[in-house]
Amino acid sequence: MADGVVGVIGLGQMGSQIALLSALRGFETRVYDVAPGAAERFLRWTDSYLRDRTEKGKIEPGVADQTRSRLSAQSSVKDCAGPADFVVEAVAEDVRVKRAVFTEADRATAAAHLFTNSSTIVSSKLIDGLVHPERVCNVHFFNPALVMDLVEVVRGLHTSDATITAAMDFARSLGKTPVLLKKEVRGFAVNRVLDSIWRESLYLVENEVISVEDLDTAITKGLGHPMGPFRLMDLVGIDLVYSTQMDAYKETGDERLAPSHLLVTKIENGELGKKSGRGWYSYQQTT
Ligand code: 3HC
Repeated sequence: MADGVVGVIGLGQMGSQIALLSALRGFETRVYDVAPGAAERFLRWTDSYLRDRTEKGKIEPGVADQTRSRLSAQSSVKDCAGPADFVVEAVAEDVRVKRAVFTEADRATAAAHLFTNSSTIVSSKLIDGLVHPERVCNVHFFNPALVMDLVEVVRGLHTSDATITAAMDFARSLGKTPVLLKKEVRGFAVNRVLDSIWRESLYLVENEVISVEDLDTAITKGLGHPMGPFRLMDLVGIDLVYSTQMDAYKETGDERLAPSHLLVTKIENGELGKKSGRGWYSYQQTT
């Protein structure tokens, strides 16, 4: 069992699963989200997840109780990060919002390593004005974070060796397999490859070569992926796929990298994937 204190800031899909994982693995886990009611929703979801896992015999009842007792909701970034050894930021993919969180967390804690779970923003964009930029790097989890084994640790020029070691060890203590990216690059490693798959899939559907369903079948059956690219877009959020492609377009100015019209239409219709109940497929809302 790990020991130490983890602060998780931002309780969306990723932050919630990272926080629960942290508590399951033994860390005292402090959580904070600026949105009213978000922490309560997180704790309700946690209770139902732990109840479900206990009923299925996947975890012992005692483990559920201990896990729950390690979780506490905090009322500010300062309270969440202050006593932490590791802080994981998982707020909206907006550089201004993330910078504000890092500024506050950097001031609040004397010793914590500060990790961003961002999949699109490299940590060097978040260190302006920090007292300890050497404590900062990307630690990128995959969705669903409770299940997916990989964590990408991304070194910035400002990141110290001690922080990289701490990030790799932190990922291992959560039961993950970390890989190190030795320098910052847009999309990191996995999402660069995944983006190529998404672009080709969108191209084939947009040009009426194949249907969404058949393309997903082709990739699951033909390449052995656990889910097809369209179902995966629904899982991670079509808005995230869109913003990843928009970032690539803005950075390069290359028209060919502009987001697909199919994605633009989905965004305009509010069809963001599983979280909105509809994306490429329809879903029953559970909350
Ligand atoms: N949250 C928590 N646990 C989940 C879950 C979720 N959303 N979905 C599934 N699980 C768990 C189940 O409880 C089950 O656990 P158990 O075996 O211990 O009981 C296990 O995962 C398998 O679930 P199922 O049998 O219901 O379904 P599958 O076997 O189809 O697995 C899946 C579901 C794990 C999501 C699998 O389809 C998969 O691996 N899909 C690919 C996911 C992927 O590629 N993720 C990366 C996306 S890219 C990314 O995140 C980067 C970002 O920056 C965009």
